[in-house]
Parts: sequence; C-alpha cells; structure tokens
Amino acid sequence: MLRYGGDYNPEQWPPGTWAEDDELMRRARVNSATVGVFSWSLLEPEEGRYSFGWLDDTLDRLHSNGVGVVLATPTASPPPWFTLAYPEAMPVTPDGVRRTHGSRDTYCAAAPAYRDAARRIAAALAERYAEHPAVWLWHVHNEYGTLCWCDATAEAFRRWLRARYGGLGALNDAWGTAFWSQRYSDWAQVLPPRATQWRHNPTQSLDFRRFWSDELRAAYREQADAIRAVRPDATVTTNFMVPEYQNLDFWSWSSDVDIVAIDHYLTDRGIAGAADTAFGADRARSFNGGRPWLLMEQATSTISAGDRSLTKPPGQMLRDSLAHVARGADAVQFFQWRASRYGAETWHAAMVPHAGADSRVYREVVRLGEVLDRLGEVAGSTVRADTAIVWDADSWWGLDSPILPSSALRYLPALRAAHRTLWTDGVTADFVAAGADLSGYKLVLAPALYVLPDAAAANLSSYVERGGHLAVWYFSGIVDENLHVRLGGYPGALRDLLGVRVEEFHPLAEGETVALSGGATAHTWTEDLRTTTAEPVLAYPDGSAAVTRNRYGAGTAWYVSCGLDDTSYASLLGEIRRRAGTGPEGEPTPGVEVVRRNGKRNDWLFVLNHTGAPATVPATGHELITDRPVTGTLTVPAGGVAVVRVGADGTPTRT
Ligand code: GAL
Repeated sequence: MLRYGGDYNPEQWPPGTWAEDDELMRRARVNSATVGVFSWSLLEPEEGRYSFGWLDDTLDRLHSNGVGVVLATPTASPPPWFTLAYPEAMPVTPDGVRRTHGSRDTYCAAAPAYRDAARRIAAALAERYAEHPAVWLWHVHNEYGTLCWCDATAEAFRRWLRARYGGLGALNDAWGTAFWSQRYSDWAQVLPPRATQWRHNPTQSLDFRRFWSDELRAAYREQADAIRAVRPDATVTTNFMVPEYQNLDFWSWSSDVDIVAIDHYLTDRGIAGAADTAFGADRARSFNGGRPWLLMEQATSTISAGDRSLTKPPGQMLRDSLAHVARGADAVQFFQWRASRYGAETWHAAMVPHAGADSRVYREVVRLGEVLDRLGEVAGSTVRADTAIVWDADSWWGLDSPILPSSALRYLPALRAAHRTLWTDGVTADFVAAGADLSGYKLVLAPALYVLPDAAAANLSSYVERGGHLAVWYFSGIVDENLHVRLGGYPGALRDLLGVRVEEFHPLAEGETVALSGGATAHTWTEDLRTTTAEPVLAYPDGSAAVTRNRYGAGTAWYVSCGLDDTSYASLLGEIRRRAGTGPEGEPTPGVEVVRRNGKRNDWLFVLNHTGAPATVPATGHELITDRPVTGTLTVPAGGVAVVRVGADGTPTRT
C-alpha cells in the first residue's frame, strides 16, 4: 500500500466540518493524516495540564474511517505560556535580539527548559497513544533547523567543541586563531559566531553549523527515545526539508530516523521544477540508504515564485506526486488537508481548497487517490543507480561564506547542474558521502567538493584505482576538515589522482567568458593548470589544459577546471558516462522522464511526460493506471503519466 494524505488540523475547524472531512477523505481514498504538528497550546494549555480529549476523538474518528495517523509531537511551536515561564529559552539572533512568540519555531533548541518541555509533551503523547491502532508513524517536531546564538547555545557549543577537540590548544590550531589575534585562553571566551565587526573566522562558522546539526539531532533523539520508551517498536521520523534549507547534515541524521521523510515545495515551474523534484527525491532515497522513503509534505497547487504564488496547471499535481513515487517514495502527503481560513498560511494550497469539494484541485486529489490505489503493488520496491553524486554538508557550509575567491562558488547550483544534466539524459543518480563505499557505482561525480578530509580523499582515490570513474569539478579537494588549505598546488587532496597541479585561480566576472578548444566556452571560473600525468581534453586559449582525464590504477579521473557552457557541460558528461559505461535505458526523449523501480518479481517503469505533446516510449508489460497491456510501445498523453509493470531484470512480467 502507498500512503496518501496530508496534515490534518481539525482543531482549527468547527466540529461541523469533521463529518465532511471523513466523507471527503473516503472519497479521495486518503489513508494517512498527520495530526498534531502545531497543537501544543491546545494539548498543554497550561504547563503540566494536558487536554487530550480532542486528539482522542480525532484519532478514533480517523481510525474508524480507515485513515492511519502520523502522530506529530508539537514541539516546533511552544505555547505563549512557555515564553513567559522561560524567557531565556526564546531564540536569539546573531546580533543579540531575543525573539518572542507570535509565529512558530520560537524556541532555542539548546535551551534546557525547552528541551525538558519538549521531552515531556512527547512522553505524554507516547504514553497516551502508543497503543492506538490508528498510529502507524511518529513524526517528531517539524522541519528541524531553526538556529540560535543565545547563552545556552554558547554553552552547548563549548561542550560540543570540548568533545571534538579535547583542549583549547587543538581548538586554537583547528580554528587558526593565530590569524587576527583570536587565540582563546579560556573556554568562556569561545562563542557562537555572533555579530562581529567584519568577517567571521570560517572554521568557527563551520563548526557552529556542525554543532547545530548535532544539537538538533540530540533534541530529536530525546523525543524519539521518549516514544520508544513506551513503544520500543514505534517507527519514528521527522520531516527533512529539501532542497534549499541546509541546517542539517542529513547523512548523520539518517541513522537516527527509522525512515527518511522529506518535504518538497517547488520553487520552479516546468522542466526546471520537474528536475528539481528528482533532485530532492534522489537525495531522500539516498539518505534512506536506497530504501523506500516518505514524501511527507508538498503543495497541491501553489509554487512559490518570488513575489507571488503560482498555481500548478491541471495534471501537474499527479505528475509531481508520481515523480516522487518513481524515485522510491512509498507515501504521498501534502500540507495540508483543508486550506486554512485564517492564520499565516491562509493562502497556501490544500487538498480541500477554500472553494470546497466542488473544485478542480479536490477532483484531482480524488483522481490521485485512485491512481495511488492502483499503484499499491510498487510499495517496498527500490530504485537502482550506477551513477552517484557526492553530497557533502561540510562543503555546502564551507562555501556558504564571504571569504572565497568568488561569490559565484556556490554549492547547491553546482550540485543541481550535475544532477540535472544526468536527469536530462535519463540517468537516475544516487547521492553518496565522499567516504562511503563507492564500489557499486560505475561513475561518481564530485562537484564543489570544497572540504575533503584525508580519509575521504583516500576513499575517492582507491575507488578510481580499483576501476571506478570519477569526475571532479573545480574548487574541490581544496581544504581539509578545518578549512586549512592543502598546500603545494591545488587541488591539494586530489592532485595525484587527477594528475594536475593548479598554481592560481582566475575567477571570471559575471558575463565574462573565455573561449576553449572545440568551441566550448568557460564562464565563472578558470585556472592556471599544468598537467602532470593527465591528458588534456579541452584547452584554454594559451593551450594549457582546462578539462583533463587521468588514468589512475584501473580507473579514470576527470577534472573540470572551469565553468562550462551548458552544451559543453552536457556533452562532456555524456562522454564521461559513455567511457564509464553508464547510460539511460533507451534513448531519452526531451522532457519525458523514465524511471525504473525494482521489485523482487517485477519492475515498474514510470513514464512522466512533462511536455505539451504526446510522447511514445518503448515498453512491454501492463500499464497499471489504465489497466491495459502494453506491447512494444507506450504513448503517454501530454502532461500525463504511465506506470508499466515489466519483468524484473529482463524476465517476463509476473502478475
Ligand atoms: C512546511 C511546513 C508546514 C507548512 C508548509 C507550507 O515547510 O512544514 O508546516 O508551513 O511548509 O509550505
């Protein structure tokens, strides 16, 4: 079964609407509702006094309506009484302004009073509902990430630093405090990177991001433990926000959640939006170790596009949803069931819009319910990829800095470019950590891998030595885990592997380009590069190499020392893929996404037509949405989706 539903907040509605909710959920085949995410002030109206009546009724009602419950702990929005009782637990900005309630996320996650209160309400919910038959999943908190710079944070930061460095000497070395007279002689002097006169110490900033991710993990684990203390076999998770919101190191977090759940809100339309959905979904699957994962939130209609929100055209919601399922999601959920009549998200799309059930959106919600029902057999199947992209939180945080040689050195765009080029070519990619076991991949891409510890660099080298293909983009392998430059020529950690040595960078101005050999164009970044063992693939105007290829052991390591125009980037990556022996299944049709989910007995081909014209692709098997056999070719209408059950690994289809 695929789970289907959304955030459900009946406490924000008069009881008269509940019977209609039940009826409309039944009609839409909703089988999952996330309850209680922002209900703390109702559940605990005064400190220590709980009021569970409405939640009892809601869980019972949903259960008798056949709807499973994702029970949330409400700790992302403490009640106003909490502020007055514990003013010291309110979040403080880098420049010392203490925020107050009136919105959400008004807490400091490192403040003991907040942590205690959060643990207590989680434990109280667990005690009351651990055995409730409706609850299939526990959803701790909501989108962990809110930062704080208060005194409690400073104390927790110092504890984390002591554990990492042992003594102040090691901290001083790692942070390079000899620069600008920052040497610490007492732990009390060590602070979070609060507002200061000019540039922060970059290693202090990086350690603060690492610390905060760990601090939030500890807060998550306390609640998860409180739930498991009552119900050891509970499935517990929290919702990760991908792709733009980067306050967590998801590789470390994924070992703490029982199943990865993500929220994905589109910020782009058309093909760019479709590519971005795949970018989020491939990461969700990878963070979950390749196993099926959950789409916890998306929007039925709106796309936030700068100064206004845009509605999704007919059919897009179904396509977006199946795009997640295609890449391994076993749940499709939305924020939220009913569009709010009031509050800060009044104008956010929902499964039941302000117009009510007589609306295009609700009719599409019903249709999506029917389709997901027909696709139930794909639940539990996986997605295999032989190409991977290195994902690294330290490099993102390290590049999120004003000290770099160019402000155009940005992490997410570099990762997106690599993923989108593969996506356009019909290649499904996993994401991996640089230190992970890479032996299952024919090709690994490393864009913007700025921070590279010794062990991870050695891992990349031994992957190539044993026959792997690796492509590295500029400004990778430049610094160690403390952001100390690796000396002797860039990219220090990868010089031997890549067979190149770079003496100087030449960042380009916006709009400035350099003509390369073969008609290619460089933008953003160029380098003064000398080959040692590598052979040139593309050259700068002075004949020096711009893109190189190096045989290393049994494998090949490519280096791209400049920003490349889109066409050259795509053709280079195509060439790299061909040599690595990775490719899409069949010739890709522009704008038509084909993804395979692999099961034990069968596979399923998801065909998503993002174009405005019908598309025909080769396929043989059984189409599940229309319940029709497919022999040889399949035509998918403009903007449509098809899911074909095909034989696993080329064997005949089994029903
Ligand atoms: C999510 C959040 C929801 C809601 C939604 C609106 O990030 O978890 O509570 O605010 O955004 O898009």
